[in-house]
Amino acid sequence: MSSPYRNLHDSYVPNRWSYSRLLTLALTAGCVVVLGALLSIPLLEKSTHDTKQKSGNHKEPTIQGKSLNCSVVAEKSRLVLVESVPLHMKYEANATFGTHLYDAWKDLLDIATKSVDVTSFYWSLTGDDISVNSSTDIPGRDILQVFEDLPLRNVTVRVATNFPPLAPHSTDLDILESKGVHVKKVNFMNLTKGVLHTKIWIVDMKHVYIGSANMDWRSLTQVKELGMVMYNCSQLAEDLHKIFQSYWVLGDQNASIPDPWPSEFDTTINREHPLVVNISGVPSRIFVAGSPPSLCPAGRTKDLDAILTVIEGAEQFVDVAVMEYFPTSRFTHHRLYWPTIEDALKRAAFERQISIRLLISCGRDTDPSMLPYLLSLNAFHQPAENISVEVKLFVVPVGNQSNIPYSRVNHNKYMVTDKVAYIGTSNWSSDYFNTTAGVGIVVSQDAPHPNSAEQVLQKQLRGVFERDWNSQFTVALADVGYSPDCAFTEGLRGASL
Ligand SMILES: *[C@@H]1O[C@H](CO)[C@@H](O)[C@H](O)[C@H]1NC(C)=O
Ligand SMILES: *[C@@H]1O[C@H](CO)[C@@H](O)[C@H](O)[C@H]1NC(C)=O
Ligand SMILES: *[C@@H]1O[C@H](CO)[C@@H](O)[C@H](O)[C@H]1NC(C)=O
Ligand SMILES: *[C@@H]1O[C@H](CO)[C@@H](O)[C@H](O)[C@H]1NC(C)=O
Ligand SMILES: *[C@@H]1O[C@H](CO)[C@@H](O)[C@H](O)[C@H]1NC(C)=O
Ligand SMILES: *[C@@H]1O[C@H](CO)[C@@H](O)[C@H](O)[C@H]1NC(C)=O
Ligand SMILES: *[C@@H]1O[C@H](CO)[C@@H](O)[C@H](O)[C@H]1NC(C)=O
Ligand SMILES: *[C@@H]1O[C@H](CO)[C@@H](O)[C@H](O)[C@H]1NC(C)=O
Ligand SMILES: *[C@@H]1O[C@H](CO)[C@@H](O)[C@H](O)[C@H]1NC(C)=O
Ligand SMILES: *[C@@H]1O[C@H](CO)[C@@H](O)[C@H](O)[C@H]1NC(C)=O
Ligand SMILES: *[C@@H]1O[C@H](CO)[C@@H](O)[C@H](O)[C@H]1NC(C)=O
Ligand SMILES: *[C@@H]1O[C@H](CO)[C@@H](O)[C@H](O)[C@H]1NC(C)=O
Repeated sequence: MSSPYRNLHDSYVPNRWSYSRLLTLALTAGCVVVLGALLSIPLLEKSTHDTKQKSGNHKEPTIQGKSLNCSVVAEKSRLVLVESVPLHMKYEANATFGTHLYDAWKDLLDIATKSVDVTSFYWSLTGDDISVNSSTDIPGRDILQVFEDLPLRNVTVRVATNFPPLAPHSTDLDILESKGVHVKKVNFMNLTKGVLHTKIWIVDMKHVYIGSANMDWRSLTQVKELGMVMYNCSQLAEDLHKIFQSYWVLGDQNASIPDPWPSEFDTTINREHPLVVNISGVPSRIFVAGSPPSLCPAGRTKDLDAILTVIEGAEQFVDVAVMEYFPTSRFTHHRLYWPTIEDALKRAAFERQISIRLLISCGRDTDPSMLPYLLSLNAFHQPAENISVEVKLFVVPVGNQSNIPYSRVNHNKYMVTDKVAYIGTSNWSSDYFNTTAGVGIVVSQDAPHPNSAEQVLQKQLRGVFERDWNSQFTVALADVGYSPDCAFTEGLRGASL
């Protein structure tokens, strides 16, 4: 099955209301198929045990009510993998997908009764913002309309966004403010020399969304995105709200970064002490890491440390999907070599024979200077020596959507190992961990009961990675010259001459 949007472009009906009903129906139907298929994937990998348990320990997971944080308030926590697949991408007929991003966002907004707090890089939910006339912006327009209507339902909406805006012609935030939405624009350039790149939603202080998608119509139909929604976990929501609140106060006039942060921003949930949650009956551990370090109050694990810990904790494999990978800085005045993640990956491959795979995005706007770093990493691959480091490119075909700028790319930022799932918002280069505001969430779950239909996030994410790695959209570095929609094409031809 391809994106649920596949046929919608053609069945576009100008009447807005009937269109959105059609959309909802199509998406709901698609979603049922997707979920059914997802649940039927056989368990391919060995079970994920508590990272603290020795692997090979087959003790039945037990839930000690008193050690579960979210169950204390008798919440029914539920975790959903969320994806968006650009229109007109045809996967294998048997491919399975997470819940569509549009469905997930719509659902979160529909169930809101009190508050919706959003942090975003920028807003651009209609094609008009960038002078593009495409009916593929309809899902974006629809989301904007739902946001506009929230204050009418007495839902308090707060938006923290980066300033100056990346989409200067967008009227989204002006419209929302006129409808009663509270907006704060944070000048991160002044504060950290970076940007606010975090994408989180907190709904009614108990449901949360984290993922790669910007508040951009293209995220719903033209850019490949990945994230997750956790329903009914107020302690996770409260923890994320501390991060939201830290941006909110920095949006005040003349604000500066407190050092140290007042204690109300501190957290007790981190790498050492994750939140213990009963997710659909499966004992799970979760924590949220942040960047840059100056925005990590006491107790908050830094995003880079979370990534390194996840790599170091792997016993079999590390699969990474990121839009950009540079073992360097990108935006500093003097360029810096930055092998922190590169070393961790190579060390895992060399010393512990962990199998490493990286799926990096290549699109029309990708910086060709990334290619030599990928070739260099890939050159470490030496199967005869039990060193496995493989790099592939993911290229979203542009097709007849070439009029839409900065789209048709794989914008995912996640990592999955034999132990845990990690979903982040940052590209992998030094700036994203040093000056840019971002978050990453690490989820580790016990093996579900053998009779359970529940699939842990780690397994779903591995399924997504395998699906994409083996799809027709990936290109081995050696074959990159044949990919018309990837900016590396000319670069590689030049390099191999
Ligand atoms: C979660 O539960 C553990 C074990 O009962 C406890 O140590 C920890 O403080 C709790 N965390 C929160 C945020 O309540
Ligand atoms: C949250 O949990 C309550 C019960 O505590 C349940 O009624 C509700 O359906 C759950 N919400 C979601 C979105 O799963
Ligand atoms: C889908 O079908 C292909 C063969 O067409 C097969 O290689 C692959 O394993 C299948 N994937 C799933 C998830 O069943
Ligand atoms: C946008 O495109 C549609 C169909 O191609 C056309 O009917 C409409 O007039 C265009 N709108 C603008 C503002 O150009
Ligand atoms: C919103 O709040 C106002 C004032 O408390 C109330 O009159 C109105 O009925 C509420 N509207 C909804 C949709 O709950
Ligand atoms: C911000 O700083 C300027 C210049 O120092 C000052 O005039 C202004 O009152 C300050 N604004 C606030 C809200 O503190
Ligand atoms: C932030 O930077 C702008 C220039 O981009 C400058 O005009 C402004 O005074 C700065 N504000 C603060 C509070 O430093
Ligand atoms: C865990 O969650 C499941 C399903 O939500 C529930 O049936 C079970 O009682 C919960 N266990 C504990 C200890 O809270
Ligand atoms: C590679 O791993 C296999 C299986 O563990 C082992 O038999 C072999 O000796 C290893 N080769 C090298 C070069 O380390
Ligand atoms: C764009 O291409 C897709 C498939 O490649 C096709 O289904 C669709 O009708 C085309 N749309 C337009 C407007 O040409
Ligand atoms: C990193 O990711 C953002 C969006 O998440 C993208 O717009 C940008 O071009 C990427 N690369 C750099 C170097 O910022
Ligand atoms: C991190 O940021 C600081 C301050 O902007 C800068 O001096 C330093 O070189 C940066 N380090 C890296 C590795 O990007």
